[in-house]
Amino acid sequence: MNILHTIIDTIEGLKPLDKAADPLAAVVSRAVQPRRIRNLLSGAAIGHSVHPVLIVVPSGAWLMASYLDFAGGKSSRHAADLLVNVGIVSAAPAVITGLHDWSDTQEKERRVGLVHAAGNAIALVLFTASSIVRLRDHRVLGKLLGLAGLGSMGFSAYLGGHLAYGSGVNVNRTAWHELPTEWTRVASDADVVEGGRHRTEVNGVPVLLLRNGGKLTAMDSVCNHLGGPLEEGTVEDGCIVCPWHQSTFRLDDGWNYRGPASVPQPVYETRVTSDGFIELRQPVS
Ligand code: FES
Repeated sequence: MNILHTIIDTIEGLKPLDKAADPLAAVVSRAVQPRRIRNLLSGAAIGHSVHPVLIVVPSGAWLMASYLDFAGGKSSRHAADLLVNVGIVSAAPAVITGLHDWSDTQEKERRVGLVHAAGNAIALVLFTASSIVRLRDHRVLGKLLGLAGLGSMGFSAYLGGHLAYGSGVNVNRTAWHELPTEWTRVASDADVVEGGRHRTEVNGVPVLLLRNGGKLTAMDSVCNHLGGPLEEGTVEDGCIVCPWHQSTFRLDDGWNYRGPASVPQPVYETRVTSDGFIELRQPVS
């Protein structure tokens, strides 16, 4: 095990962090309850989390500022200062969307996310200090503060990468789920009563069968956001609401009416055979 793995393991096991993380996550969760805010911050419009898109601007600006500081010469001073300030201003949307995504995590991911946020906050403070001393023409100090900010941001980026690629935070939990394209018998029609739930599995894919207003729906039962059990969700206005973070999916087509899920939930084609069995298949496009 290398040093970075040891650091990650240590952070994941730091339960005292929960004392700060849990109340902060609760405050953020309350603030993002309105549907429009949820959808905006979760990336419903673009089909995946918006936070990784927004962090490119401050991290790119600060990286280029430091490059110009040390390799650009005198003629690059103005550009370097400008990039430092672009990074500071553009950090706000990245912070807000990051807090949103983080508020839905639990335990070890929440702890790593808190340290990730702290690292970025330190970077923001260091670059802000760098900007101030640059205005007073303390260029060497400004460069060193920027370099320190870059280091903090780099470590934080490593933690963010671990959250996404190591822990699967905000990875679509249904991305690999696919049913056969041939009709497959899964249950007796009598097993799926009006208002009831019936969970089955097809080729290892968990599927929720339910009837609402007489209409039969077959939906992937693993919430694509963070894996919540949709069979325990509530049905409201033709949609099912995930019990974990209240992502809301339309029964007809799986459309993500409300985030934090940023993609629609898979819905499968259904038919009832003449001898009273339900068959499913992957929609044929
Ligand atoms: S797991 Fe988060 S909304 Fe379903």
